Amino acid sequence: VDAYLQPKSLRGLRVLVTAGPTYEAIDAVRGITNRSSGKMGYAVAKAAAAAGARVSLVTGPTGIPGPAVAETVAVTSAQQMLEAVEARVDEADIFIAVAAVADYYVLNPSENKIKKDAHILTLELAPNPDILANVSSLDKPPFCVGFAAESENLEEYAELKRKRKHLPLIVANDATKAIGSDEVELVLLDDAGRHVLALADKATQARRLVEHVARLYNANNP
Ligand code: CTP
Ligand code: CA
Repeated sequence: VDAYLQPKSLRGLRVLVTAGPTYEAIDAVRGITNRSSGKMGYAVAKAAAAAGARVSLVTGPTGIPGPAVAETVAVTSAQQMLEAVEARVDEADIFIAVAAVADYYVLNPSENKIKKDAHILTLELAPNPDILANVSSLDKPPFCVGFAAESENLEEYAELKRKRKHLPLIVANDATKAIGSDEVELVLLDDAGRHVLALADKATQARRLVEHVARLYNANNP
């Protein structure tokens, strides 16, 4: 059948996606962030839109142009990302957390640029809220999909995260290989087991992931 005649797997559904890193200020000009490019999250947002969903993308600073989806919200810190997600989550059927959220923020960031001196500088870090865990523990959560970035024991750690956050689906992602590379291998972990998405570019992986999400979602919501 012509692809145009295929029913769109996410037609009429609203999908909320987080992407990119967050940035936690140290002072007026410095901060703590990580090496997430945002490419995977943007590819997921695009693939969901192509599957017929109304997509809201909440993105940390990436420096790359966002995809053409229904709504894009640019945020900086994890706290801001949480607020942007909370403001939209009640409307969402599916939540896909691709963002590499900073696990800590800097307590008492300096309003001015910190001047150097000869002493050791100590930063105090406090834990950030876990956006995905907050969403998945709502009374009526959307269908929640997590990404597990691991550098060792990939599938074991990813499955532990899936259980801990009560997720129907998590995407295991080897962070040491994924960073800076255009092609990734992903493993989907759900109640039925493991599904390997063999090495491919991020757009392809995003399409495969979205089709898997659509199958699970539509099976649970006939
Ligand atoms: N996540 C989130 N908010 C956070 C931290 C993580 O929403 N503050 C989401 C990520 O978007 C991802 C999933 O939780 O979908 C797993 O993130 P990851 O960093 O791999 O796991 P953590 O639970 O933060 O544990 P750790 O970093 O210690 O492995
Ligand atoms: Ca983390």
